[in-house]
Amino acid sequence: MVQQCDLNDFEGLCRLDSTGMMGALEGLPAQCTVAVGDICDCVELPAIEAISNIVVTGLGGSAIGGDLLRVYTAGKISVPVTVNRDYVLPEFVGPDTLVFAVSYSGNTEETLSAYEEARARGASVIAITTGGKLAGMAARDGVPLVKIPAGCAPRAATGYLFIPTLVILQRLGLLPDLTGEITAMAGFIKELQNKIGPESPEEENVSKQIAHKLYKKIPVVWGVTGTTEVVAQRWKGQINENAKAPAYWNVFPELNHNEIVGLEYPPEILKKIHVVILRDEQEHPRVQKRIEITKGIIKDALDGVTEVWSSGDGDLARLFSLIYTGDYASLYLAALYGIDPGPVKIIDYLKWELAKE
Ligand code: F6R
Repeated sequence: MVQQCDLNDFEGLCRLDSTGMMGALEGLPAQCTVAVGDICDCVELPAIEAISNIVVTGLGGSAIGGDLLRVYTAGKISVPVTVNRDYVLPEFVGPDTLVFAVSYSGNTEETLSAYEEARARGASVIAITTGGKLAGMAARDGVPLVKIPAGCAPRAATGYLFIPTLVILQRLGLLPDLTGEITAMAGFIKELQNKIGPESPEEENVSKQIAHKLYKKIPVVWGVTGTTEVVAQRWKGQINENAKAPAYWNVFPELNHNEIVGLEYPPEILKKIHVVILRDEQEHPRVQKRIEITKGIIKDALDGVTEVWSSGDGDLARLFSLIYTGDYASLYLAALYGIDPGPVKIIDYLKWELAKE
């Protein structure tokens, strides 16, 4: 029989967390500062010219950095950024494509397959990994390798997995110097950690309060296209992997054209849904209006609605403020369920079964 953990019991939270997920999360600001300096400094980049598109290929915790890159660079970069979560690459990938092959373990078969395909199509490839087969293949092929520290779960290594893509694009002249913005973001979330980390009491801790709202409910996380969409997807993944609970995500304005109609039946199940709306100051004014109308439409059908606003200065800080809040909330939700957030036995089992062939 699992026992719910009191979220104000710091030692109880640590006891459940056999793999140190909380410590890894605490290290996120440091990951970002290390990634902007040491990790990328020693990577030798060949002259890469005439890039017309960028693809980040990876899965799960290694893919979310690609979405962060896509959303963050929209309007800042002159070429499209696409995220690929598959064995095969989109048809447009060719010699004018820059492909980031990202796998924390270096052994995810979809990513290895996409890496080989990128090479075969003559794309410029950069590998980001802790080691594994991907590191071996990059060494074999003379492909630039961003070697990141091992030792945590991929989903707890977002700083290592995402920031190098920004730094490399900056070094290739595709983005301006972002060192200041990345360092400022890291400083900001370090401060935020004091408010939402495990030692901050529930009365003052937004992440702990959110976990309570989501406990024994079905979380549905809504973001906004172009701003918080990637965060909504991240919250869903973190709730799944850390709290071992279902969660779903969608975006405004699209959800106003379908999902919003599907909230009538069955009423007893709908009463179990708790919606989180991720808010940001950059929302389109019409989207703001849509959110207000939508809240009125859903208020009686569901368990409830919680809005979480981004904070901090700059696009990166605002994105990471919401990511950090959700990451902690997912760990606290795991604690409420009385489970260890670290192990993802089902993913391990699937990879093990697939490796048999
Ligand atoms: C586990 C996790 C997973 C992995 C995914 C791909 O913490 O987040 O979503 O990221 O299974 O594995 P890697 O990242 O090793 O390529």
